[in-house]
Amino acid sequence: MADLFGNDDKADEKTIKRARFIQSELERHNELYYTRAKPEISDREFDRLMAELSDLERCFPLIASPDSPTHRVGGKPVDGFVQVAHRTPMLSIDNSYDEQMVHEFANRLGKLLPGQKIEFVVEPKIDGVAISATYERGILILGATRGDGEKGDDITTNFKTVRGVPLRLKGRNIPDLVEVRGEVYLEQADFDAINANRTGQGEETYANPRNFTAGSLKLLDPKLCASRKLRFFAHGVGAFEGTSPKTHHEMLEAFSSWGIPVNPHYKVHDNIGGALAEIGKWNTLRTELPYQTDGVVVKVDNLEQRMKLGTTTKAPRWVIAYKFAAEQARTRLVAIDLQIGKLGTLTPVARLDPVQLAGTKVSNASLHNADFISTKDIRIGDMIVVEKAGEIIPYVVRSDPGSRNGTEIPFTFPDECPVCGAPVVRNPVGAFYRCTGTDCSAKLKRRLRSFAIRSAMDIEGLGSETIELLVDHGLVKSIPDLFLMNQEQLECLPRMGQLSAFNLVEGIKQCKSRGLGRLLAGLGIRHIGESIADDLTRRVGSIQNLLVLTEIEIANFQGMGPERAHSLFDWLHGAEGITTIARLKEYGVSMEAAPFEPPPGFSDLAGKTFVLTGTLEGLDRDDAERFIRERGAKASGSVSRKTSYVVAGEAAGSKLDKARELGIPILDKDAFLALLGLSQPG
Ligand code: IVH
Repeated sequence: MADLFGNDDKADEKTIKRARFIQSELERHNELYYTRAKPEISDREFDRLMAELSDLERCFPLIASPDSPTHRVGGKPVDGFVQVAHRTPMLSIDNSYDEQMVHEFANRLGKLLPGQKIEFVVEPKIDGVAISATYERGILILGATRGDGEKGDDITTNFKTVRGVPLRLKGRNIPDLVEVRGEVYLEQADFDAINANRTGQGEETYANPRNFTAGSLKLLDPKLCASRKLRFFAHGVGAFEGTSPKTHHEMLEAFSSWGIPVNPHYKVHDNIGGALAEIGKWNTLRTELPYQTDGVVVKVDNLEQRMKLGTTTKAPRWVIAYKFAAEQARTRLVAIDLQIGKLGTLTPVARLDPVQLAGTKVSNASLHNADFISTKDIRIGDMIVVEKAGEIIPYVVRSDPGSRNGTEIPFTFPDECPVCGAPVVRNPVGAFYRCTGTDCSAKLKRRLRSFAIRSAMDIEGLGSETIELLVDHGLVKSIPDLFLMNQEQLECLPRMGQLSAFNLVEGIKQCKSRGLGRLLAGLGIRHIGESIADDLTRRVGSIQNLLVLTEIEIANFQGMGPERAHSLFDWLHGAEGITTIARLKEYGVSMEAAPFEPPPGFSDLAGKTFVLTGTLEGLDRDDAERFIRERGAKASGSVSRKTSYVVAGEAAGSKLDKARELGIPILDKDAFLALLGLSQPG
């Protein structure tokens, strides 16, 4: 009879051994790469091993253990996130901004721990997203966001895809339970590459790595999260059951020995003077780190002293953050240009005399909107101060009216669009100006870019330059026109060879089957982005089903809400939506949700029979039965020889006895979820 972890009568001994070997090799290489920065094999070889394990798990689903590295590539999309209570609150940290404040912190500690020697640990303060990761008997069972500090979201499936995070701890003295706290972050180079790619595709860039990271961890599709190159550093502990280290630095060493990534730049100092010297060092050294930091953290090293110091309602008394001042530079604002977005919004952009700031040359900065310009009294010709704090995009802090010579010109928004000449109107709410032109070529170009990008219709060969050509030569006046172009027409365009014309026609043909989610994401409907369009279409299935829904029904889908629903409903039933959908349908563009692709390791349980007995903590009985049905299996009320599995929770009774008697495999909640391809209830 089969059990969950390898004794599948279909997989022979050799196969099981091979799977276990690859699993341990993948974990070892993962740690070598992400935690130790000492890779031993190429990415290609790593991918090959991962593919082999995925294949084995697909053929023999019972081989897949809950900590299999295949979970790292992301499991099944979830409907939403379940809230979980933190064992101890996730507090914030008090800030300090100068030496004096750090001395005051040390003096406070001295008074609270009279006569005691206090040692400090100084660490960079990573500008990322706080996460709590719980390991029970060495297995990662929960990843949760900070939320309101008391309760956060269960994002386990996404957290498992974060590079370097061990799914199973290795080494010695592994505690029965440890709740590790740390920061998920994205390296600057990875973030820059993502933004460069988006700029190339004509998409708006992400504001900073922190927001991008937070957004990635809340994606419903873990595969998408897995593609985002997030990383993790542990910097503390929320709960510990076992023999705990006595100091913070020993705790970090223990984490590291168990394979949990720890920032190597922590340092122990035996007095506050040493800690201050270290802070001074980081003020300049921080720019050499591959990730963004917004300060350094000074912590009491001794954990018993920490206990004595306790916390206020907001923050522990044993820690203080020293925040760096943002780097600033002065330069002249030489012009203000207007960029036209896909919905016609005019965004003012400051053109600057190039200036060096935080390691890059800055020559442009967004001025956001009319209010931003008027509140800061920014004029063309002004000397201005720009800064780069957490944001990669430079921020205009203020103008310098003192250095004016009278030639500076206040900026006013034009009455007419600088591109199409249509009237420009000010949004009644907010400080935005918008081009009202229905034929504005700038607007159309932005829309076509959003339509063609990878996360939407992914049209090979339709980059910014080609879009310029198509629109400027009048070949495309709306999105559906793309599907009417033929190779001969394209070949007549300047700089368009036979091959490029062929590739573009092919690319456009290919994109017809991307599915409704990506189509809706690409149509430039206000508030409807990639993730929500995907979630919605998974639920409705097709455009017919979507078109019969009322605005309220749309709003009721999880994640939608009234604003998005209003925008989508208006677009679908307005003139533009009706024509666009009708034309795209006529040209053969798919209006159905793309078929769901089962993730690697997804169990094929069709035909099996499950019996649930007892209480499965945190898992609703109805949900459990639904999960079973969704996999083509049956949930039955009584145990017989035909029962494939008995899932036993707390206070399971006679059904469990019967299962034992008949030798039927018995699963606990975790094993059950793992078998279903769900590490936690979705
Ligand atoms: S210690 C009570 N160490 O900064 C929390 N936090 O602004 C003690 N952070 O929520 C946290 N790097 O998520 C600590 N090396 C570090 C950190 C760090 C970043 C975050 C942490 C906290 C936030 C407060």
